[in-house]
Amino acid sequence: MEGSRAGIAPRRCDRNEDFGQTFALLERLPVDLESVRSEVERVIVSEADLQKRLQEIARTIESDYRDKDLLLIGVLKGAVMAMADLARYLNRHVEMDWMAVSSYGSGTKSSGVVRILKDLDKDITGRNVLIVEDIVDTGLTLDWMRTNLESRGAQSVEIFTVLRKPESAMVKVDVKYVGFDIPKDFVIGYGLDFNEKYRNLPFIGVLAKHMYE
Ligand code: PRP
Repeated sequence: MEGSRAGIAPRRCDRNEDFGQTFALLERLPVDLESVRSEVERVIVSEADLQKRLQEIARTIESDYRDKDLLLIGVLKGAVMAMADLARYLNRHVEMDWMAVSSYGSGTKSSGVVRILKDLDKDITGRNVLIVEDIVDTGLTLDWMRTNLESRGAQSVEIFTVLRKPESAMVKVDVKYVGFDIPKDFVIGYGLDFNEKYRNLPFIGVLAKHMYE
């Protein structure tokens, strides 16, 4: 690693932090503490670690995009939290746009065929685009998105993701800014959902198996 990329090596995050250790954090949960205690097996990235990492990455992005325009493109819905926090940590002008996409067919994400549910509002010809994502799992969504945005004539297309699951990758995607590499567990919080719940938790947790098995 060298130059501006030196500070952005992904963090490996597979610790088992139980709720006892993060009780202070849980006191300010937006949802019922007791239900979360029984539904979330463990915290794998605390709110403090998440925010610290986003600030580090924001400094690197400022440096990489000095004297360039920067258009953040968030992928709904999971990227809402990351977009809101990252954008506020960037000490520069940014523009924001949003896409919503869905995998075609069965609801599994393994087809790689993506349908646009909501397209960008504006033309991106000549723009420096940074895709903002909550998670890269199989990589199929981001692989498709990058190709799609490049085909629209963007000057550059890079990717920021809060989380990446290297063990789940089905396709290699070059992700320039990675918050944390995590194990293959079912994770929720900070934009990530299970049946649309848990997106507003401020940390990343592992969903208890009894919730989906
Ligand atoms: C998640 C995430 C990515 C995609 C990654 O979105 O936000 O867009 O899955 O998966 P992949 O690497 O296997 O393609 P999801 O489809 O769950 O929608 P959501 O953001 O609305 O929850």
